[in-house]
Amino acid sequence: MWNILYTLFLRILLFFGVILSGEAHADVGYFWHVSDFHYDDTYGKTGQSCSFPVSHPGPFGNGSCDSPMQLIEESLKSMASIKPDADFILWTGDNAAHIPTPEFSLKRNLYMINAVTSAIKRNFPNTLLIPSLGNHDFFPADYTNGTESELYDSVCQMWSAWIKDPEQINNCRRGNHHRPRLPDHSRHYECRSNSALLPYPGNHHRPRLPDHSRHYECRTNSALLPYPGIIIGHVSPIILAIMNVGLILPSFPTQVIIIGHVSPTIPAPFVLNWFYSQYQKRYVKLMTLFSDLIIAHHYGHEHKDSFKILQRDENGSEASPVFLAPSVTPLRGIQPKGEQGTRHNPGVRLVKYDRQTGKHLNYRQFYTNITEANHLGRAVWRELYSFQDAYNVPDMSVSSLRKILKDMAKPFSLSMLKYCSFYTVTPPLGEVCSIKQQGAFWCAAQLTNVQETEDCIFRYIHGFKANVRSWFCARERVVCKNSKSQNDRKS
Ligand SMILES: *[C@@H]1O[C@H](CO)[C@@H](O)[C@H](O)[C@H]1NC(C)=O
Ligand SMILES: *[C@@H]1O[C@H](CO)[C@@H](O)[C@H](O)[C@H]1NC(C)=O
Ligand SMILES: *[C@@H]1O[C@H](CO)[C@@H](O)[C@H](O)[C@H]1NC(C)=O
Ligand SMILES: *[C@@H]1O[C@H](CO)[C@@H](O)[C@H](O)[C@H]1NC(C)=O
Repeated sequence: MWNILYTLFLRILLFFGVILSGEAHADVGYFWHVSDFHYDDTYGKTGQSCSFPVSHPGPFGNGSCDSPMQLIEESLKSMASIKPDADFILWTGDNAAHIPTPEFSLKRNLYMINAVTSAIKRNFPNTLLIPSLGNHDFFPADYTNGTESELYDSVCQMWSAWIKDPEQINNCRRGNHHRPRLPDHSRHYECRSNSALLPYPGNHHRPRLPDHSRHYECRTNSALLPYPGIIIGHVSPIILAIMNVGLILPSFPTQVIIIGHVSPTIPAPFVLNWFYSQYQKRYVKLMTLFSDLIIAHHYGHEHKDSFKILQRDENGSEASPVFLAPSVTPLRGIQPKGEQGTRHNPGVRLVKYDRQTGKHLNYRQFYTNITEANHLGRAVWRELYSFQDAYNVPDMSVSSLRKILKDMAKPFSLSMLKYCSFYTVTPPLGEVCSIKQQGAFWCAAQLTNVQETEDCIFRYIHGFKANVRSWFCARERVVCKNSKSQNDRKS
């Protein structure tokens, strides 16, 4: 009896000891995530990136065009004033403007990447950058055949101050894998970045790559061989090959943060697959298989704010959290029927994490409203939301995301309304989403197959309509009876 009590006492002591020591040793760090600058050097002149004519282009940008340098400079300046001493900056690509190929060139493309690189260096002279290239960093956009030596030579030169090690700079040149060293606490993390362009279904002018697998093999081997983490060694050659991705690896236990330009998840509310589906499937499979090693994914590309779970099934443990950061460019894009895409504000994101474990604790999303900035003559950057506070969760883990998604399963729930506003980088209730959009957000946050997502959206809408009817029936008995009997006849 005493023995049991004594053991129990020890356990309780140990339990609180662990909690307290955990608190005491919490080593909190921060990193920025910034994406999709899309610099247009013709903004305010010929405005080559503008999808619609803009008669009075404001100094801070216009939703029909890519970013003027002033907007890029202001976004970096605001980051440097909010958190100048972040541990590192994730920079997930797409620096060149959306300019049609005939009017564009590799030289101008490189000029734009260099202009953004210089702007970052000016504002963060001592901060490590972890870059990955996007589909608009290649020329022509969306196209690679694996022989972009001029592009790689140039960007690796531009980024050499961050990569430092001459051997890694060489690796970078050979297809842009490199392993920059994190400045402090480098004991805990190692970083690799690879920006080889994924097999991305691009524009009409893009020929299909003749031999994908050969293409991958030659790029990936050199980057990974020196790494002792056997499992990572197995994962990475393929992962790095399928996408433009960087891995940040703590040395022990082996955990990774994955960054890249394009997420393998399904975008919403426009349901489609960014990847050729065979590569997307392979990518998702690997990511779920090794999900216990993955702390989180960070991507850009969609210009909007969202999060998802990359998972095998909805309650399973093979799952990792995915975060998509909004763009700096305010460009709305064009939808399939030719109308303007959704309006959204430029944003930058600050992530708070545990330096010892890499665990992601919270992020704060900042934004500026360019209509207001153009009017005032200066850009005011505000906090749009804190992830923890907005969704009332303790951290950025899969279980927190599942808690939010459970709430979002209810149409017009508070979490859903927030997700749908934050998607366009607007304050809550700034946007009201249709039931179809809500279904798309909910389904695409959990599924990675286009057809399954479409079916899920159908069920979400159907479930909502059924509930509206039963709610209505509770008040109007006659209608209820009629509608029920009609329904019975149908089935
Ligand atoms: C962008 O330009 C259009 C057309 O000139 C104008 O109506 C709109 O207000 C501008 N938007 C911003 C954010 O400046
Ligand atoms: C690859 O693409 C570059 C740039 O478009 C082009 O100059 C080169 O000829 C291509 N090489 C092959 C082998 O197709
Ligand atoms: C996941 O859990 C929820 C609630 O606990 C349950 O309704 C659902 O059926 C489960 N899904 C699967 C695939 O097991
Ligand atoms: C920006 O602010 C203006 C008021 O200055 C407001 O009318 C507009 O809706 C805001 N735009 C966005 C995208 O939040």
